[in-house]
Amino acid sequence: MRYFNFKLIISTALFMAVLFPAFAVVIKWHNVEPGVWKGVVGTPEVYSLLGASGCEPLKEGFDRLPEVNMPEMASSIVCEVVNGKTYLRFPLEKKEQLYGFGLNFQTVHQRGKIFNLHVDHYGGKDTGRNHAPVPFYVSSKGYGVLINSSRYLTVYAGSGARKDSPNAPKAIDRNTDKSWKARPYSDAVSVLVPAEGAEIYVFAGPTPMDVVRRYNLLCGGGTLPPRWGLGFTQRTKTLFTAADVEAEADAFEKNGFPLDFIGLEPGWQSKAYPCTFEWDSSRYPDPEGFVKKMLDRKIRLNLWTNPYVSPESGIYDEIYPYSGSHTVWCGIVPDLATDKGREIWTDKLQKEHVGIGVSGYKIDEVDGYDHYLWPDVATFPSGLDAEQMRQTYGLLVQRSTADLYRARNLRTYGLVRASNAGASSMPYVLYNDYYSHKDFITALINSGFSGVLWTPEVRSSKSAEEWVRRFQSVVFSPMAMINAWSSGTKPWSFPEVADNIKEYAILRMCMMPYWYTEFARYHYDGIPPFRAMSLEPGFNYEDAMSTEIKSANLDDNPYLEAVTKEIKDQYMAGEYLLVAPMFVGETSRKVVLPKGDWYDFYTGEYVGNGQTITAEPGLSGIPVYVRDGAIIPMMEPRLHAPGKGEKVNLEIRHYGKANGAYRLYDDDGETFDYEKGEYSWRDIKVVRQKDGTLKGVISKPGKGKPDTVGKVTWKFMTKS
Ligand code: GAL
Repeated sequence: MRYFNFKLIISTALFMAVLFPAFAVVIKWHNVEPGVWKGVVGTPEVYSLLGASGCEPLKEGFDRLPEVNMPEMASSIVCEVVNGKTYLRFPLEKKEQLYGFGLNFQTVHQRGKIFNLHVDHYGGKDTGRNHAPVPFYVSSKGYGVLINSSRYLTVYAGSGARKDSPNAPKAIDRNTDKSWKARPYSDAVSVLVPAEGAEIYVFAGPTPMDVVRRYNLLCGGGTLPPRWGLGFTQRTKTLFTAADVEAEADAFEKNGFPLDFIGLEPGWQSKAYPCTFEWDSSRYPDPEGFVKKMLDRKIRLNLWTNPYVSPESGIYDEIYPYSGSHTVWCGIVPDLATDKGREIWTDKLQKEHVGIGVSGYKIDEVDGYDHYLWPDVATFPSGLDAEQMRQTYGLLVQRSTADLYRARNLRTYGLVRASNAGASSMPYVLYNDYYSHKDFITALINSGFSGVLWTPEVRSSKSAEEWVRRFQSVVFSPMAMINAWSSGTKPWSFPEVADNIKEYAILRMCMMPYWYTEFARYHYDGIPPFRAMSLEPGFNYEDAMSTEIKSANLDDNPYLEAVTKEIKDQYMAGEYLLVAPMFVGETSRKVVLPKGDWYDFYTGEYVGNGQTITAEPGLSGIPVYVRDGAIIPMMEPRLHAPGKGEKVNLEIRHYGKANGAYRLYDDDGETFDYEKGEYSWRDIKVVRQKDGTLKGVISKPGKGKPDTVGKVTWKFMTKS
């Protein structure tokens, strides 16, 4: 048996106590933007998440938020730096709920969770290992916290009780007292940062939505995709040839299905896993001619790739000195934190793809799976270690490819499998292989708390019912996509539901003016286009649930409350739409309506106010509800998004009884000229007249400002 050396332990403890009478360090606060404070603890590392993303705050957006003081909780944050590690403790009140901590798939309420925030593929459990483990959380009390560290962080989000806490739970005798709990109450969010300091940001509200807005604005404002990015996209089977792709586009056209961009999967490259980034000359003998031909028919191309360089790639030798020590599938890993490594990699993409008109990328496999990716013992020429590289590689690939398009004054919109804090303005949507429809919806909700976008992509289905249900929800998401890389499915693959699928694909296109405006709100105001019910005005968590909960026990066990009673299967899409997806096997579902009058999106009929309703839409419908006074600008059905400067006729819909007001956003839809003021917001107003009828008006764009609005018709959806 081994004995501890008590003498040594005691003398070390005494020595430490003398050297560091208290480990607590003072936080130096700076007000960096209105309602955002940065606190410096100890000696933070130079390389951080926000630094890696390169984001610059969208300053003008802050002016549209209320003036606020620093949240009171900030004065109770306790930080200690001990033995090269930083311990952060944030106060947590009873009844406070927490949201965020990255792209979780199973719950929206995160109080009580323990996370190891670590970029990884999603393994089926919310452990913190996921595609975007963003160390940012939002409290229901209206403040938020970001830890700007590129380390693997351990978070106890209301778990763990200190002996000296003023709210320490009382010990209970389990032998005799049935109220004993294995997880006693905790009054703090504690974070372990494995570094000698950290930068923390505190965001004020007053509402949780304002907190999210400030976070997105700090990260550059939300991305504004090109219009075509919000249309429909099909990813083709992996070994398709140029001729197969053209035939696919023909079939979409012949069947009357919209299509804005086609995604080519690994087979377009001469070698994949690892990659050459060069076209396969047998399948694509004339890449330039092919890309041009597709562009001429208004179909753009998006290329799958992973960043790992094959020994057979033309850049292998040149990039070798600027790659990490370890390989991924025997390909070398470009060190995108070195100027030279980034330059060699992006020059190749520029020459082979962007320069010939390819519109975007799907950058795969940057998240992980420990058995494939570089291990934590890998080293990189930039001096970053493997952990920092793992946490930020998704940011680096997004940033460097986005820059290629920006240099050409063209917007892109693509897919990526890893991200982190600072990504709000990145033109990328996250996806994965996990394929749980329900969890995909929860991820869509959680994406709105983390400044990332997520697509509940459709791949294949076991039945027509599943196909319809998945398709209906992807239409109400940031990227309407079928990923048929393996299945080869087409929208019409299930003939019995093909008409319904087409109806929804066309609805997606008709809603383009709404989607585009909602993304503009994401950009200019930081409002996530897809988000949780708890961010909605009129949504009171406890009220909404009061019909279902008999004995709320928030005081005793917030975690139980969080996982059993939260709303994780319905969400807000843009300013006015509440979307409640149906899942396979369901014929009806419950929908919780926030306060205020709500109407059916399809019929305009009144459905309720602040209560839980039951929806029974049949197979052909996904329940969607609209707020009183909502204005939804729609365009005529089209198979492709309107191009630069193209005029479209609008049908402006109004719902409910209240007068309505909406601001319609317009710009050229393709370039960054909007950053130079080339955009317009047009006021749409619907006002009830003396005779009781409704009348709509739309303002003119400013002189010389973009104007793509053609003829306007009005549709008052709710019969008075
Ligand atoms: C996976 C990816 C899929 C598909 C496939 C192609 O890693 O998640 O969407 O692109 O690779 O091999």
